[in-house]
Amino acid sequence: MAKITVIGSFVVDNVAKMDKFPQTGETVLGTSLEIFLGGKGANQCISVSRLGGDVEMIGMLGNDENGRIFRKLLADEGIAATHVFSCNRPTAVAHVQINAEGQNRICVIASANHEFGFEELDQIDGIIKATELVILQLEMRLDVTKEIIRRAHEYGVKILLNPAPAVKLENEILSLVDYITPNESELALLTGLPTETDEQVIIAANKLLTCGTKTVVVTLGGRGALVAAREGITFIPGYRVSVVDTVAAGDSFNGALAVALMEGKELCEAVRFANAMGALTVQKSGAIPSLHTRVQVDSFMQNNG
Ligand code: RIB
Repeated sequence: MAKITVIGSFVVDNVAKMDKFPQTGETVLGTSLEIFLGGKGANQCISVSRLGGDVEMIGMLGNDENGRIFRKLLADEGIAATHVFSCNRPTAVAHVQINAEGQNRICVIASANHEFGFEELDQIDGIIKATELVILQLEMRLDVTKEIIRRAHEYGVKILLNPAPAVKLENEILSLVDYITPNESELALLTGLPTETDEQVIIAANKLLTCGTKTVVVTLGGRGALVAAREGITFIPGYRVSVVDTVAAGDSFNGALAVALMEGKELCEAVRFANAMGALTVQKSGAIPSLHTRVQVDSFMQNNG
């Protein structure tokens, strides 16, 4: 049984590049339109695999050409996909906009991802029981995701929740999560607190700790990450790199964090490793094409102190 199980989304990204994002009601001329495979679940799973982690993917694809393309990808990457189900709704797609600074805006149409329900959950119950860490995001059905969290906690399985796209979660759920990894805007949404300054981010991260979450890792883009745990607050600086496309940087960060934690790395060391993976991801276009390998991350860390 795989040590790490990702239960999450598959999405085909339709990526338009433009100098600046359009305002409401404005039309802008773009510079390119490309299609990449992505989805937070798939991105996180492939990150784990490329970094040498032992991982299984669980999710829902459409019974269509995009679904077959994703199945081939998982097979090529050597990822177990026995519990990737198929349904009659289409594989999910997203509209992704990228501006000249590499910043992104994303709208996902959930389609097949939201067909993963309690029936499928019952079929994977044994997989959850037998794994060591479950990685979740919020692109699947929220009621099903919450039940996965309850069951994983009951079975003594560690839970890493990437709360994206963010929604407010009850304390009952937050208190079961071992690692939560919001960015600043997701942290604001989760806590109802402002996160514009470092002081505000610390207050908001501490609020999640008081809700019972064991460890909060706030991703701060190129600036790095802030770790809030019972032992205190630690800021882990990021790497200075030139940004091409930020899509999947958060996902690769999560995948790397999971791998490092499962290897027994101490938390701050694991976040340093995750920062390096994220810094490499933003230097390439596309979601899955931008996910680097263990050799590349190790060499990047050696060359960048
Ligand atoms: O986190 C990036 C991902 O979010 C993209 O690949 C897109 O599919 C959305 O799910």
